[in-house]
Amino acid sequence: MENIVIGTENLKKSYKKGVYAVDGLSFQVKEKRITGFLGPNGAGKSTTIKMLLGLLEPDDGRIEILGNVMKTDSPRIRKYIGFMPELPKFPRYLTGMELLEIYGEFLQMEKNEIRKQAKELLEEVGLGKDMNKKIGNYSKGMQQRLGFAVAFLNNPPLAIMDEPTEGLDPVGMVEIKKLIKQKARDGTTIFLSSHLLKEVEEICDEVIVINRGRLVTSGTVEKVIAEAYNRKIIEIEVDRLGNVPDAIRKLPYVIDVSVENNKIFVELSTDEDVRAIISRTIYENGSLVIGMGYVTETLENAFIELLKNGVNVK
Ligand SMILES: Nc1ncnc2c1ncn2[C@@H]1O[C@H](COP(=O)(O)OP(=O)(O)OP(=O)(O)O)[C@@H](O)[C@H]1O
Ligand SMILES: [Mg+2]
Repeated sequence: MENIVIGTENLKKSYKKGVYAVDGLSFQVKEKRITGFLGPNGAGKSTTIKMLLGLLEPDDGRIEILGNVMKTDSPRIRKYIGFMPELPKFPRYLTGMELLEIYGEFLQMEKNEIRKQAKELLEEVGLGKDMNKKIGNYSKGMQQRLGFAVAFLNNPPLAIMDEPTEGLDPVGMVEIKKLIKQKARDGTTIFLSSHLLKEVEEICDEVIVINRGRLVTSGTVEKVIAEAYNRKIIEIEVDRLGNVPDAIRKLPYVIDVSVENNKIFVELSTDEDVRAIISRTIYENGSLVIGMGYVTETLENAFIELLKNGVNVK
C-alpha cells in the first residue's frame, strides 16, 4: 500500500461567520509524489496550506501529517515539513546566507551542516553569486528562489509550497521545475499549489482540485483530464470526404461529426477503441485514412470544464 503523507478529513475554516473558506475538505497526498493543489482564486488553497502547517487553527476536521495528528504534535512535526509561503517576505536587512543560517539554527541543524547545505542550495537555485547580498536588494524572482532554498534546507521528507513558480521568469521557471522534480526523485513528497496548469501538468503526478473550499476531484493528471470529459474526440485526415462524414455519423457511439478541410472530428460517447470500425467505414465509402488519432485534452481545459460542471462533483 502507498503511504499517505498528508491526510485531511472534513477540514473546515471560516474567517467570517457562516462563510466557509474551507468547507469540509478531505484529501490524501501520497508519499514521494508531486501533488498539485489547484483551484481558482479564493478557492481556499492558502487557507488549507496554513492549516496543514499549523499556522491557522481549523474550525473542524482532522489533519494527519507523516503519521502524526497535527495540533498536539505540531511543533515536533514542523521540523519535517519544508515550507515555501505564497510571496515570501523575508527580513530585508539579512543576506540570503544569513537567513538560511538563522533558519537552520531554528531547525536545530549543526552549524557546519547548515553552511554546507545552504551553500549548495543557494547555488542550485541560482543565487550563488548573491548569497552575501542583502535580501532588500533581491528581485521578486530572487526572493522566490530563496524561498525554495528555505523550504529544502534540512532535506525534509515533505515540502509544502504555495505558488512556488509565481513571479519567476521563463528561465527561472524551468530551473525551479527541474529542482522540484529532482527533490521528488531524491525522495521528498511535494505538495504545491499553482495556477499554472501547464506547469502542473508537466511536473505533477497527481492533482487535487478544489473550488469554494470543497473538493471537486482528485487523482492522477490523466484521470482528472479524462473525468472532466465524458466524451472523446478522434481526429481523422482522409483522402477525400465524399459520403464519409455521413457514414461515420451513423456509427454507434458517435455523438457528433464536424469537418474542417480534409479533416473529420468525431465525438464519441465511449472509451472503447472504435478506430478500426471507423477506418473500415472510410474505406467502404471510397476514401482512405491518411492519419487518425485521439485529440488530447490539456489539464487547463479539463480544469475549466470541471469548474463549469458544478462546484462539487464529489
Ligand atoms: N485573513 C483572512 N481574513 C478573511 N478572509 C480571508 C482571509 N484569508 C483568506 N480569506 C478568504 O478566504 C477565501 C479563501 O482564500 P485563500 O487565500 O485560501 O484562497 P486561495 O485559493 O489561496 O486563492 P489564490 O489563488 O488567490 O491564492 C477567500 O474568500 C478569501 O477572501
Ligand atoms: Mg493562495
